[in-house]
Amino acid sequence: MYEQLSHSLLNDILNKIEPKIAKQDLRYFYTRLGANFYAIHSLFEKLYGGRNDFEEQAQALVETMAKQYISRPEKLRKLDIDRELDYNWFLSQKWVGMTLYCNGFADNLKGMRNNLHYFQELGINLVHIMPILRCPEGSSDGGYAVSDFRKIDPRVGTLEDLQNLSDDMQQRDILLTLDVVLNHTSDEHEWAKKARAGDKKYQDYFYTFGSRTVPDMFEQNMLEVFPETAPGNFTWDEEMQRWVMTVFNNYQWDLNYSNPAVFIEMLDVILYWANMGADILRLDAVAFLWKKIGSTCQNEREAHLILQLLKDCCQVVAPGVLFIAEAIVAPLEVTKYFGEDAIIAKECEIAYNATYMALLWDAVATKNAKLLNQGIKNVPVKLERATWLNYARCHDDIGLGFDDKDIALAGYEPVNHRKFLIDYYSGKFDDSHARGVLFGENEKTGDARISGTLASLVGLQHAIEIDDPIAIQNSIKLILLFHSMILSFGGIPLLYYGDELGTINDDSYVNDPIKASDSRWVHRHVIDWKKAELRHTRGTVEHSIFTALKHMISVHKETGIFADFNNRNLIEVENPHLFVFERYDINRVSERVLVVANFDGKPQNLDLDSLVSWGLPHYGQLVDLYTGQRPEIFKNTLVVPSFGFYWLYEA
Ligand code: GLC
Ligand code: GLC
Repeated sequence: MYEQLSHSLLNDILNKIEPKIAKQDLRYFYTRLGANFYAIHSLFEKLYGGRNDFEEQAQALVETMAKQYISRPEKLRKLDIDRELDYNWFLSQKWVGMTLYCNGFADNLKGMRNNLHYFQELGINLVHIMPILRCPEGSSDGGYAVSDFRKIDPRVGTLEDLQNLSDDMQQRDILLTLDVVLNHTSDEHEWAKKARAGDKKYQDYFYTFGSRTVPDMFEQNMLEVFPETAPGNFTWDEEMQRWVMTVFNNYQWDLNYSNPAVFIEMLDVILYWANMGADILRLDAVAFLWKKIGSTCQNEREAHLILQLLKDCCQVVAPGVLFIAEAIVAPLEVTKYFGEDAIIAKECEIAYNATYMALLWDAVATKNAKLLNQGIKNVPVKLERATWLNYARCHDDIGLGFDDKDIALAGYEPVNHRKFLIDYYSGKFDDSHARGVLFGENEKTGDARISGTLASLVGLQHAIEIDDPIAIQNSIKLILLFHSMILSFGGIPLLYYGDELGTINDDSYVNDPIKASDSRWVHRHVIDWKKAELRHTRGTVEHSIFTALKHMISVHKETGIFADFNNRNLIEVENPHLFVFERYDINRVSERVLVVANFDGKPQNLDLDSLVSWGLPHYGQLVDLYTGQRPEIFKNTLVVPSFGFYWLYEA
């Protein structure tokens, strides 16, 4: 859009731009800047317009973008142009992801490079490497307390190692996803050190207070993220003699985004990693970016403005790079992180589908899809050019983030139901063999979350211990059922490393004083590669899970209907144990796949006549994409095996 005011500001900026920048060939940069500048200017003004140094800051913003554009490698600039042409590229079903810790998957970045074939063997072509930047030697929240945003943690390697890895991944058509921890730094970061030493400029990078007055005011409405290990949201810093806002752990200092210098620094960091070859950046804890007295300091409107501004600026420099919003918040809030536009994601193109994840865990515990059917209706239709990350497990705990209203509508009493789930997954419930460990228990609110690997939570650990072949089979079925759900729902399926081998809990963290108080370490294991070799040996758990997933992934990738174009209809059926939806081809609606999942331990039946749109004459022609076989149908009744699923199409 053309608007005089922003255009004349842009002219001023370009007139004053450093001669070094002015000399470069910046054609693509200028066309994109022109196209985005109205939006950039209005967002920047909304956020920082009241400041005396506004114009100076706007100049710095444009120069930051220009410099990063200049250092963007030619091959990445080409990729940007390809992706601008094929702008829906990431909605394809061809992408299947995995999240992992570099030092859990291999010793270090070099080791990862040697293991890339493993991803190809399974069919993974998007790899999210958990934080690998410099962080404190001791507690670092698994790398989410960053001490230097531009240096790799020497324990995993060097920048050169990362570049080599990223080059190799690109050659193999594997996307690289890296974290940018936007919300906070470690207290060992240079900015924190300077703030601590009394430097006012850097104190203004954080939220620091001389007395408790303001912190106490904030505390009236803020929640606690880590109530057991880091109660409260402020930490007294002895050296600085000030309180500092620390929403997560006491060594994670929240950045002050009401200071434009912080915004520009973090934009520069984002563009830096984009230029290192990251295809996708996972923006951590985005819900927390803006702090306002009297609010929970989550999901504030300004947090969205910051993300929009980051997106607009990134579009100028590195338009091929996508953002993932890590916002584990209510469904209605989550979709706002795509940006409130009709079509295009104006903030992040991808968001974690935590709602679906938590609902799937509910279905497994209750052995029915009542809450799943109810809760999933709240996940609003996503924008056209945006997609979900669908996952069963990740490095964090499982929060029971569904709505009490939905729990009630599904026929349960909310408090009791939540208690049931916690008891179920921590194995306290009679009928449960789950081996979850509680996380974030909050005595004040009665809230708790759950840690544990997928395999241990679905009873595989128990089944192996008691050497019960049927229980082992059932757990494997549940592991596959979970994956069938994240692969068919629409969005990018994101596996968690080790789940493809049935990895069970690793309790050794309790002996490590740095990790002992954080039960999430129970599922942040080191892959045992000798054991992983068993994936080639028939009859082993590893073989059963790995080969099934490998097959499931390959079928998924071949099935265009699984691409994410809002082409899903939920189908509510009478049998509460079943979760049913259809996926269809947006161009030929008669081309469709019926997904049926049975969360019960007994076979369940589905009356096919009740599926109005799936006309009668076709029963005989239904084929399951996954097995290639005709499903069990008796007259008009489809029989779904215990913990089984179908991906049915009309042959
Ligand atoms: C995100 C990460 C989590 C971390 C937190 C603070 O939620 O996923 O692991 O503890 O941010 O950085
Ligand atoms: C908070 C964050 C969530 C993260 C969790 C870490 O709840 O909102 O993103 O998963 O902390 O356990």
